[in-house]
Amino acid sequence: MIRVGLIGAGFMGKMHATCYEALKENGVMITAVADLDQSKAGDIAEKSGALVYETGMELISQADVDAIDICLPTYLHTEHAIAAMRNRKHVFIEKPVCLHEEDEKELLKTEKETGVTVMVGQCIRLWSEYTWLKKVTDSKEYGEIVTGVFKRISPKPTWSWNNWLHQPELSGGVALDMHIHDADFVRFLLGEPDILSVNASRDEEGVIQQMFSTYKCQNALLSSEVCWDYPDSFPFCMEYRVKFDKATAVYNSTVSPALMVYQNDGISFSPTLDKEFESDSNLGGNVSSLGGYYNELEYFINKIKNNEPVETAPLSEGINSVKMVLHEIALAGGTVKL
Ligand SMILES: NC(=O)c1ccc[n+]([C@@H]2O[C@H](COP(=O)([O-])OP(=O)(O)OC[C@H]3O[C@@H](n4cnc5c(N)ncnc54)[C@H](O)[C@@H]3O)[C@@H](O)[C@H]2O)c1
Repeated sequence: MIRVGLIGAGFMGKMHATCYEALKENGVMITAVADLDQSKAGDIAEKSGALVYETGMELISQADVDAIDICLPTYLHTEHAIAAMRNRKHVFIEKPVCLHEEDEKELLKTEKETGVTVMVGQCIRLWSEYTWLKKVTDSKEYGEIVTGVFKRISPKPTWSWNNWLHQPELSGGVALDMHIHDADFVRFLLGEPDILSVNASRDEEGVIQQMFSTYKCQNALLSSEVCWDYPDSFPFCMEYRVKFDKATAVYNSTVSPALMVYQNDGISFSPTLDKEFESDSNLGGNVSSLGGYYNELEYFINKIKNNEPVETAPLSEGINSVKMVLHEIALAGGTVKL
């Protein structure tokens, strides 16, 4: 049995708790949970029987667990990840793994020194429709990618503790918090891109709310749009449209079927994907099923159990994606105001 200590019982902590509950037959359970808000930690403990701690650092120093799952506000990731690794715990860290270039060396050094398993929650790498896209890109089933458009559009997220999400120095703003998903996936798909251009729209305080990036990757031209200040009634949407030599693949999370392939020979179809876990609990947020959140935690737990290295979303990759987005923010003229 892999015993997990979950730190942060907010939006993502609750999601992870639901995933671990769904994964219990895989030999994993939450045995410790920490949140400054004891009622949120208590809700998770009630279902899992976990011991409750107040702070993340108390859990790391006192709880008898094998792995620590960090679902804290982003500015707290680095110090908790380093403390957990030093206590010889395997670590799952939500994305973005960190906010600053300075954090990167210490994180990688500690991972190397301690030898524990570390994975970053770049869940899109394990989201079924995106996994499918990676598979057909690598197999060249439809030839090479010619162009690709990636979008992540949202109403303003309102749930965060003390509104940390809308303080760019704590969250990295929309670029590091949301765009990191597509930036990371572009890197995963075709390798390190040359960034051709970045433009951003800012609110009256100068904070980026919407950003457009264009990349050249090998011979493919790709673009990404992210926005998180659409009206409250606007449905969250993630989307891609990728043109290969022989077909175009289109994914839109708000329509059904969400994934379609339009072949150049006139045939169109919706590919059958492996069924990810469907939850009957009301998850709220952006998803109706556990999607990549379930897949990534299942992957992490299996890697620990089999003592195998994390290949799909290792710490180094999470860090390289943060570096790329920091570069994009700088190109958008955002070196001071993230
Ligand atoms: N992968 C995704 O799609 C996705 C989606 C949402 C959030 N996230 C990431 O998950 C992380 C958490 O985001 P969230 O939306 O759950 O935030 P949240 O504000 O909903 O929850 C954060 C929780 O941390 C608790 N907390 C703060 N300081 C603490 C401390 N020192 N010790 C213990 N508890 C503490 C707060 O009380 C709060 O309950 C962020 O890094 C965010 O970027 C990822």
